[in-house]
Amino acid sequence: MKSSAPSPKTSAGAESPWDSPIDVFQESAKELGFWMALRYALIYALSYKPVDDTRYDRQHGTDTSGIVPTRDLDIADDSTRWQANLFLASPARITRYMIEAQLGAAPINPQDYSFVDYGSGKGRSTLVAAEYPFKRAIGIEISAELTAIARQNAERVKSRCAAPVEFFCTDARKFLLPEGNLFLHMYHPFGQDILREVLSGIRDQAIASEQPRRILIPYLFSVAMAKAVFHEFPEFRRTRDVFCMNPQYRWTLYEWVPHTTTSDGANKPASLL
Ligand SMILES: C[S@@+](CC[C@H](N)C(=O)[O-])C[C@H]1O[C@@H](n2cnc3c(N)ncnc32)[C@H](O)[C@@H]1O
Repeated sequence: MKSSAPSPKTSAGAESPWDSPIDVFQESAKELGFWMALRYALIYALSYKPVDDTRYDRQHGTDTSGIVPTRDLDIADDSTRWQANLFLASPARITRYMIEAQLGAAPINPQDYSFVDYGSGKGRSTLVAAEYPFKRAIGIEISAELTAIARQNAERVKSRCAAPVEFFCTDARKFLLPEGNLFLHMYHPFGQDILREVLSGIRDQAIASEQPRRILIPYLFSVAMAKAVFHEFPEFRRTRDVFCMNPQYRWTLYEWVPHTTTSDGANKPASLL
């Protein structure tokens, strides 16, 4: 983040139209008509605002919320920053739902899995995952400032964690996966070029590993771009789409299914042979 940013929690500059909601309403009424503008105003007033969701922080005395626009992330390399998505924490209950959905449906025992959050920000998802007895709960984040905040948060909740927590400050493309089964959480952290490189890194490391392993990737905010990139990797089979009325909280579960070349030369998932 730029040093001029008053706080990692702050996003809107003084020029933001939302600093003056009455002006926004008046402009909208001119454009849409009074009643349509009123409907949108009500929808906005009643909607869930993730930036203002400080419930986890109030419960735990942490600082995991807020928003940091991409331009304020402390990422030195321009092309990496252009591909980075802003910092915005996912709601704790969604992370819990994602994990518990897997405990039930395609059963996983957290003790057999390491949890990794790609683009962990201030660490909320990683710390929520650490409520479960994963082998490890790991957050990887490119911003040094956000990583420092995540580590402070981890100190504050460590007595409540059922899993060892680690935060690494690194580019997701450079992260070496732990051995064993993996639960790789992604909340729409970066653009398609980096996602492609990250997935090919995961695939290559999975192929190189000597032990059979299960790799699950729940992708939150399952936009068409991410789906298209996953589609380029047939080894990551799309096994579940969770539909949510708020599109930001739709997620898709991908599961690593190693491919094997058959005698007829076809490249098929091992489970379909
Ligand atoms: C939408 S936030 C996700 C926050 C967190 N995962 C959660 O669920 O609460 C995306 C995060 O990805 C980080 N990020 C973007 N590009 C990255 C990269 N190449 N390597 C690691 N982290 C990156 C951003 O700095 C940002 O904090």
